Amino acid sequence: RKPLIPYEEIGAEKLSELIDRFYEKVAVHPELYPIFPEDLTETARKQIQFQTQYLGGPNLFTEEHGHPMMKARHMPFPITPARAKAWLACMAEAMDDVGLEGPLREVYYQRLALTANHMVNRSEGEE
Ligand code: HEM
Repeated sequence: RKPLIPYEEIGAEKLSELIDRFYEKVAVHPELYPIFPEDLTETARKQIQFQTQYLGGPNLFTEEHGHPMMKARHMPFPITPARAKAWLACMAEAMDDVGLEGPLREVYYQRLALTANHMVNRSEGEE
């Protein structure tokens, strides 16, 4: 029997591997690196906390940082449709790298795509 909670199905170890791979790609993506800090250690740590709760695990992000309010937290950064697409492309590659496949990947990725599109806060060329 498969666990019903995606976080349990992926596991803490693979999740943190996924996020580390993801930020390695963000760090060199021409559309993305200019809006991120140079040192992504703390960003990755927060993202692991957030994804843990996003996938049904313990509320690690909220416990340390309060209500996620993701759209509000992203407002200082110019997130265009092209950047949302780039973010998702880095995530898809990271999923390939860690061998995340099957229905779990599909459901997780589709959900991230909805969230990423919701983060868009600037038009193309409006930065
Ligand atoms: C933080 C960009 C989508 C979750 C950030 C930061 C940037 C950023 C520049 C600040 C990094 C820092 O200062 O450490 C983007 C872009 C996206 C995107 C371009 C494209 C759509 C998402 C999505 C999620 C997410 C889809 C969640 C599913 C987070 C979290 C943080 C963060 C948890 C840390 C917030 C904090 O500092 O408290 N993002 N993001 N982001 N992002 Fe995104």
